Amino acid sequence: MNGHQFLYQKISVMPSQERCKCCAGLILTPFVIALIVWLTIRSSPPNFSIHKFSVPALNKTSSDFNNSKNINATISFQAKLKNENKEKGVYYDTLNLTIDYYNENSSSFWRIGNISLPPFYQGREKTATRNNATQSYGVPWEYARMKVRNGTKAKFRVNLETQVRYKSLLWKSKRRRISLKTNITVDDQGKSGANSLRFKHLLLSNQVRSSIVGMVLSSSILLLIV
Ligand SMILES: *[C@@H]1O[C@H](CO)[C@@H](O)[C@H](O)[C@H]1NC(C)=O
Ligand SMILES: *[C@@H]1O[C@H](CO)[C@@H](O)[C@H](O)[C@H]1NC(C)=O
Ligand SMILES: *[C@@H]1O[C@H](CO)[C@@H](O)[C@H](O)[C@H]1NC(C)=O
Ligand SMILES: *[C@@H]1O[C@H](CO)[C@@H](O)[C@H](O)[C@H]1NC(C)=O
Ligand SMILES: *[C@@H]1O[C@H](CO)[C@@H](O)[C@H](O)[C@H]1NC(C)=O
Ligand SMILES: *[C@@H]1O[C@H](CO)[C@@H](O)[C@H](O)[C@H]1NC(C)=O
Ligand SMILES: *[C@@H]1O[C@H](CO)[C@@H](O)[C@H](O)[C@H]1NC(C)=O
Ligand SMILES: *[C@@H]1O[C@H](CO)[C@@H](O)[C@H](O)[C@H]1NC(C)=O
Ligand SMILES: *[C@@H]1O[C@H](CO)[C@@H](O)[C@H](O)[C@H]1NC(C)=O
Repeated sequence: MNGHQFLYQKISVMPSQERCKCCAGLILTPFVIALIVWLTIRSSPPNFSIHKFSVPALNKTSSDFNNSKNINATISFQAKLKNENKEKGVYYDTLNLTIDYYNENSSSFWRIGNISLPPFYQGREKTATRNNATQSYGVPWEYARMKVRNGTKAKFRVNLETQVRYKSLLWKSKRRRISLKTNITVDDQGKSGANSLRFKHLLLSNQVRSSIVGMVLSSSILLLIV
């Protein structure tokens, strides 16, 4: 007796309710396998965050805060990139970071600085940290200082533009463009309020995606077992 016959006999011997469950299981199996394969080969974009964003020209305790002639326009920050993939490395192309200042008068962001970081390769589940500083241009310092003196925070934005390729055991993916923005507020100490600023929409979409996948997967397995 071969396997098919055995299975057929087994099913036909079952009471109709049992048979129904068994068929549902058989139909769902390919979906569960496809899901597991997809979970294994999918790639998560890197997690990017900005820390220690510092604008010394807005530090009211510094000795030249009242000096409008000789402004130190340096802006410094720490960027962190985390590869959250358990099975894949990430090749980054040149990382183009730009900094904007928010002008309330025109309700728009002004470009005030840029930094390019060289391409690099990042292994599985590794975090890369870059401490960088740049000279900013075009910030209306008098106005921004008056605002922080009044207790309002100055608003900045950091944008990241780059392309990544994911490297798995057997192949390297095509280049995928990554474009992210985050708002940062700076107080009268010249530093950002939050210690760690994350790109929320990226995190959210990852979370939503994995919870949907988790739900589908667990309900399929449940159906299969019952
Ligand atoms: C602000 O300036 C003071 C005096 O120079 C310095 O002690 C302090 O560390 C500065 N704060 C920041 C956030 O850099
Ligand atoms: C700047 O000027 C204000 C008043 O104009 C004063 O209260 C403050 O102490 C001055 N700050 C510094 C660092 O000299
Ligand atoms: C500007 O401020 C930064 C950070 O505090 C400091 O490292 C740099 O030497 C300052 N530059 C000038 C020209 O004062
Ligand atoms: C915004 O408008 C006010 C009043 O017209 C002006 O004093 C200030 O300099 C402007 N700020 C900027 C950043 O243009
Ligand atoms: C990048 O910043 C430099 C000054 O640091 C400026 O001369 C250059 O125009 C900026 N490039 C872009 C594309 O904004
Ligand atoms: C940025 O920081 C890294 C180390 O954190 C340094 O190797 C690199 O030269 C810096 N690049 C720029 C443009 O400042
Ligand atoms: C800061 O406060 C002063 C006095 O209250 C006011 O005249 C000025 O317009 C305020 N500036 C800003 C940028 O809010
Ligand atoms: C980053 O900047 C370089 C030089 O300006 C440019 O060739 C490259 O296309 C930029 N990358 C992205 C993803 O915009
Ligand atoms: C960043 O600030 C701008 C201007 O206030 C606002 O329109 C935008 O929604 C903010 N983005 C986030 C992610 O908070």
